[in-house]
Amino acid sequence: MIVTDSEHRISDICAEWRAEGLSVGFVPTMGAFHRGHLSLVEIAVASSDRVVVSIFVNPMQFGPDEDLDRYPRNLEKDCKSVEELGASVVFTPRTDVVYPDGFSTGVYVAGMSEGLCGAARPGHFDGVTTVCAVLFGIVRPDLAVFGMKDAQQLAVIRRMVSDLRMGIDIVAAPIVREFDGLAMSSRNQYLSVEEREQACFISIGLEMALVLFRMGERNCEVLRNAFLSKLEDAPLLKVQYVETVDPDTMLGVEQVEKQVLLAVAVFAGKTRLIDNILIELEV
Ligand code: PAF
Repeated sequence: MIVTDSEHRISDICAEWRAEGLSVGFVPTMGAFHRGHLSLVEIAVASSDRVVVSIFVNPMQFGPDEDLDRYPRNLEKDCKSVEELGASVVFTPRTDVVYPDGFSTGVYVAGMSEGLCGAARPGHFDGVTTVCAVLFGIVRPDLAVFGMKDAQQLAVIRRMVSDLRMGIDIVAAPIVREFDGLAMSSRNQYLSVEEREQACFISIGLEMALVLFRMGERNCEVLRNAFLSKLEDAPLLKVQYVETVDPDTMLGVEQVEKQVLLAVAVFAGKTRLIDNILIELEV
């Protein structure tokens, strides 16, 4: 497996693969891999001939008071794990490679990047779409894999790729959970023992809402309240938002007709955790 920070090397390698008729899968990441990331790489390896994984902690998607400086980094271990899974190249660009002097372009997906995490983290999705547009331009993949835990990111990226006719197949990977249901996240390692114990109430609350839905409840306010009432059992958790939205548009939904995403953001101490569950009528 090749590990490189050179944009030109990556572009050349991918161009050679395309010339040989090989499909290129891409997994953009910020590193500090857990099983969730590795599942994205597994999906890319199973669906394409060659796989590029990028590791870049993107300053543009962090707010001034966020955890950019302490975001976990583990390059050597990360490279080893994706090599074992069959990735062909790891791209580790420096910030001045992604954003060279004079870089002046931003990609902004109106509407759907403004609610939920977009409201809580102003400018966050502009950073995500801009960096993904740059990385897509360098790698020019046939497909790219994104996790469903970041459901709003997935929807925003899909919209960008469709609006800008990027011709990339965006593949959604299911959420990978810890033994007690907590969604895997690089930020879980910030949790104290007590916070970690209570963090499982997030997925338990989401499951409670799903159970109510399966019993016939269709009113989204009742489903949101089911989640909130479960969190009362976890005093260290503070809800930032709990929303029911259409998973494609991220617009609010009040009655389940076909599909609704119940999406939440919760603080455990200073650590912000997100999770969601898709609630859908079986056809
Ligand atoms: O999901 C992430 O890790 C990041 O938002 C991404 C897609 C790699 C862009 O920096």
